[in-house]
Amino acid sequence: MSASTALYSRVQRVIPPMEWPVFEPDIEAILRLKQDRHAVILAHNYMTPEIFHCVADIVGDSLLLAREAQHVDADVIVMAGVHFMAETAKLMNPTKTVLIPDLRAGCSLAESITAADVRLLRQRYPGLPVITYVNTSAEVKAESDICCTSGNAKRVVESLGVPEVIMIPDQYLAANVARQTGVRIISWAGSCEVHERFTPAQIRELRAENPGVVVLAHPECPPEVVDEADFAGSTAAMADYVTDRQPGRVVLITECSMADNIAVLHPKVEFVRPCNLCPHMKRITLPGIRRALETMSNVVEIDPAVAVRARQAVERMLAV
Ligand code: 13P
Ligand code: SF4
Repeated sequence: MSASTALYSRVQRVIPPMEWPVFEPDIEAILRLKQDRHAVILAHNYMTPEIFHCVADIVGDSLLLAREAQHVDADVIVMAGVHFMAETAKLMNPTKTVLIPDLRAGCSLAESITAADVRLLRQRYPGLPVITYVNTSAEVKAESDICCTSGNAKRVVESLGVPEVIMIPDQYLAANVARQTGVRIISWAGSCEVHERFTPAQIRELRAENPGVVVLAHPECPPEVVDEADFAGSTAAMADYVTDRQPGRVVLITECSMADNIAVLHPKVEFVRPCNLCPHMKRITLPGIRRALETMSNVVEIDPAVAVRARQAVERMLAV
């Protein structure tokens, strides 16, 4: 079996045979370029399957990507994800060249808050620790005491052992964590443009139309949506739920590519497919990855004075 036939067999359940010839030349070029440039590709769970299953070296949720970035030995890290993820990789492994295939791959949460906003919050609520979701710029992380992801937010809040915290910028993640922990949380009016669009009525309709369906939701969804779900967790926690429990029918209340990526691994599980696309994640494509590696362009740099403080906040999170 040729290398590309073997790769196609991984994704044939989600990529029609007539689409494969469009992807194949870029995949082959990227595999060659990774060797030439001593590069590894880190890919978030929301990447499309031809990236996730065919060119990525390390895949996972934001927490895993942050952790794994520290241990990368190659010269170059290509972040197949959004800009804050590339910045986090650079913070964690500053001597590597970190590339992002499209500099416009942002995030509505990261765009909702600035470093000056965090300084104002500290003035208004003196003495409260600031917990910052990783979906933020390095400048915002630098103003924070500790970071969190959706995979460890509860643990990070509990680790501080205080009755009240500031947790920015996702109002819904903060509300969901406040309910789980009983800690009072001052938040910010940010939200994820993908997850805020799901509604409780949509989930009830899904259940009526798909009897027995298990509903898994991301904690960036509003609390009333999480209330309608059977389980809420990070993208990695949702993937683990499907792996461990093998539900007959499941719906993932999150970004669309997530279901495609895990459907490949679980042929016996039926995936019901209402989902929302993240326009920022979808800016990352095979041609973009190929171009970044060919030209070594879109290098992610962080002001060293900012990086020192931002790194501390991420390292404190990883130590929890
Ligand atoms: P996780 O992969 O950490 O659950 O995050 C989801 C997300 O929206 C990242 O942008
Ligand atoms: Fe940001 Fe939401 Fe897109 Fe994740 S899915 S990158 S939180 S806009």
